[in-house]
Amino acid sequence: MTSGRSDILHCALPPTARTVGRSRQNPGTAYAASRKENIVVESTPAEVTALYGGPATRRVRTRDLLAAKERGEKWSMLTSYDQYTASIFDAAGIPVLLVGDSAANNVFGYETTLPVTAEELLPLVRAVVRATRQTLVVGDLPFGSYEEGPTQALRTAVRFMKEGGCHAVKLEGGQRCAAQIEAIVGAGIPVMAHIGFTPQREHTIGGYRVQGRGETADEVLADARAVAAAGAFAVVLEMVPGDVAKRVTAELPIPTVGIGAGPDTDAQVLVWQDMAGLRTGKAPRFVKRYAALADTLDEATRRFADEVRSGQFPAAEHTF
Ligand code: KIV
Repeated sequence: MTSGRSDILHCALPPTARTVGRSRQNPGTAYAASRKENIVVESTPAEVTALYGGPATRRVRTRDLLAAKERGEKWSMLTSYDQYTASIFDAAGIPVLLVGDSAANNVFGYETTLPVTAEELLPLVRAVVRATRQTLVVGDLPFGSYEEGPTQALRTAVRFMKEGGCHAVKLEGGQRCAAQIEAIVGAGIPVMAHIGFTPQREHTIGGYRVQGRGETADEVLADARAVAAAGAFAVVLEMVPGDVAKRVTAELPIPTVGIGAGPDTDAQVLVWQDMAGLRTGKAPRFVKRYAALADTLDEATRRFADEVRSGQFPAAEHTF
């Protein structure tokens, strides 16, 4: 799976930037120290040889993702909407961060992704770009900012690149958005497509439903072919049966990024609050929680409140 090639992105960082390499104390453990906070992020040896994970002087490019597909190397993508998570994910070796329109639910507290606007997303995109050194940052075009046609789509994509500083944009839609993808790619902006279940169309789809079951599998395949032909550099497959995602992944020359699409896509994406257990309650079946951040934060908050109440905080060492 992993190549171990040293020519991909493994070169020395400038001294002021974060360092990533093997720990002297434990040669089997890789570490990444955040440039700003000196946070040490443990990672396994397997990650060191992944798309990146060693010291690097440059951002991941779309061509690196295509090369990873050719090597059969899987990679991960997370959403991020702020500087601290972006910096941690970057140091941990996540090669692609998505400033998703899922900020609508996960940052702004809307019920769906429909209300969020470019004006709300752009400051988040800027924060994630500023906080990262290696990861490729994708900005998600919100509902209403590209559906009118190629001209509107290109105008919004240009805003995301110029005002947000991201390195690629994402939009939802297959065949019906091929003209938009062509126009954006034609202007020199990399596009990640998103097919299968597309949350911006949840009212047409009739809720969060798996797409591409039975005879409708051909629709997903046709969408996948259309976005690849239009020039997308990657495509998200959301809530698609595993066998359909496997067919699409085998057929397409571009990487597929699965979310609820089984184990055979080239990459996997999760919303970070789902991955880290900050969002509680019933999660979709495709979510795996790798931490319980909501519990950790709850406990810390209660201890802080208790210590303020009891006078234990601030202590002498916190006082000038
Ligand atoms: O906005 C988002 O978070 C997304 C991912 C779920 C792919 O589109």
